[in-house]
Amino acid sequence: MQSFQLNERASTVPTVLSYTREDWQKGYNSLKEEFDYWIEDIEGEIPPELHGTLFRNGPGLLDINGQMIHHPFDGDGMICAITFDSGRAHFRNRFVRSEGYLAEQAAGRILYRGVFGTQKPGGWLANAFDFRLKNIANTNILYWGDKLLALWEAAEPHRLDPATLETIGLDRLDGVLKPGDAFAAHPWIDPACNQDDGAPCLVNFSIKPGLSSTITLFEFNPAGKLLRKHAHSVPGFAFIHDFVITPDYAIFFQNPVSFNPLPFLFGKSGPGECITFNPEKPTRIAVIPRAVGSKKDKKPDLAFETHAGFVFHHANAFQDGDEIVIDSVCYGSLPSVEAGADFRETAFERLAPGQLWRFRLNLTTQQVQRELLESQCCEFPYVHPAKAGRSHRYIYMGAADMAEGNAPLQAILKVDVESGERQLWSAAPQGYVSEPIFVPRSSAAFKDGLPTDTLVGAEDDGWLLTLVYNAAHERSEVVILDARNLHQQPVARLRLKHHVPYGLHGSFTPHCFINE
Ligand SMILES: [Fe+2]
Repeated sequence: MQSFQLNERASTVPTVLSYTREDWQKGYNSLKEEFDYWIEDIEGEIPPELHGTLFRNGPGLLDINGQMIHHPFDGDGMICAITFDSGRAHFRNRFVRSEGYLAEQAAGRILYRGVFGTQKPGGWLANAFDFRLKNIANTNILYWGDKLLALWEAAEPHRLDPATLETIGLDRLDGVLKPGDAFAAHPWIDPACNQDDGAPCLVNFSIKPGLSSTITLFEFNPAGKLLRKHAHSVPGFAFIHDFVITPDYAIFFQNPVSFNPLPFLFGKSGPGECITFNPEKPTRIAVIPRAVGSKKDKKPDLAFETHAGFVFHHANAFQDGDEIVIDSVCYGSLPSVEAGADFRETAFERLAPGQLWRFRLNLTTQQVQRELLESQCCEFPYVHPAKAGRSHRYIYMGAADMAEGNAPLQAILKVDVESGERQLWSAAPQGYVSEPIFVPRSSAAFKDGLPTDTLVGAEDDGWLLTLVYNAAHERSEVVILDARNLHQQPVARLRLKHHVPYGLHGSFTPHCFINE
């Protein structure tokens, strides 16, 4: 594994693409219907030991009654629940009935501006100085403390009924959040928290950007009760989507970006389009101790700097002696969202690829070293849940089919960070994958419905669950892969009766909520 500069641009444009733009675009059609059925069109066999529910979240609507939204990140959240029980699988999808979703569906038109550039009809005059946010609940979905929560980082979670996916309403986590408070869409489950005698806990954060930005860290017990909450200030504007934990620390990458609010204020673009990447500035890394100690024995926050880059998602982190090791998908530059540009016309070949990097933060010298672990374009990294915050061997990711350059995610890539071995399962040319969720084979990997830190069998002994959009049939499939060997054919392909638009994040719980 060699160390070299982040690719600013794809160095080579392959002459033969693994996809067509027309096929890829079709996966961004809205799914307006809501379904509820046992999946019958199955190739292969669903493992009878696979028991539980895969929840997924993502934009279900890419238009409001024919008015196109500007970017998928502005799309209303739609939850899919795929329940596995005794070799059968059930599919259900429901939109989150957010206040904005209900209002726009009733009006039949766009009523809100979006963070990523969706504007109300009527030009800038109709949009200027309208700062209302539509909580679109479209980024992640989590079952914790007997609550199913749809997450969107800029506002409170929405609570849903896990059996029916009906929206119960905004959930402020028993008063932890105030109206309008942010709550990130990237929680971690620490499978054995050393502050809680080895009990699992949920760790998440919120960010309040400004001239200096405030990161608030939250930790909850399995019943959903707040254990710890503390706020930390970092200098400058911070746009932080994801973070990582170790048993002792929470780590945040502050990408070198700046924010000019004027185009947003004057109705010309969304706030997400007002962020610019500063390649001449370093990435700042904030390392925040998780423990709430007395002032006397509390460890200070630490700050590190490394090369400019842009990280949306981290795979994992762990402590190794006096180092913290962090594996992350890093871009050489922020893919900008140009005002007026149609995301369906994305020129992938002009974008920097996301690549898997390892960062080593030395707590003694405060130096950062980095090395490239995997150069193939990748996103949505995932590790065994027992390994959250602990040293891992395998990382699973969505990846491009092609070895070089940026391209749609069409493959699942497994990287062995110990040996450097890699395995790729590709759905190209007409399949487009989503985040792969690793589910351990043994039910003993879960205790009281939550992951433990004990491996049962090998670290890759389990399945990868991913939703694949098949452009040939314009439908989606739930694909089950044996994580031990991605070179094999899938264990099963569960063909849905319809497509599911490309989603964002999901989670698996060993609970089954439906009774039939
Ligand atoms: Fe994310």
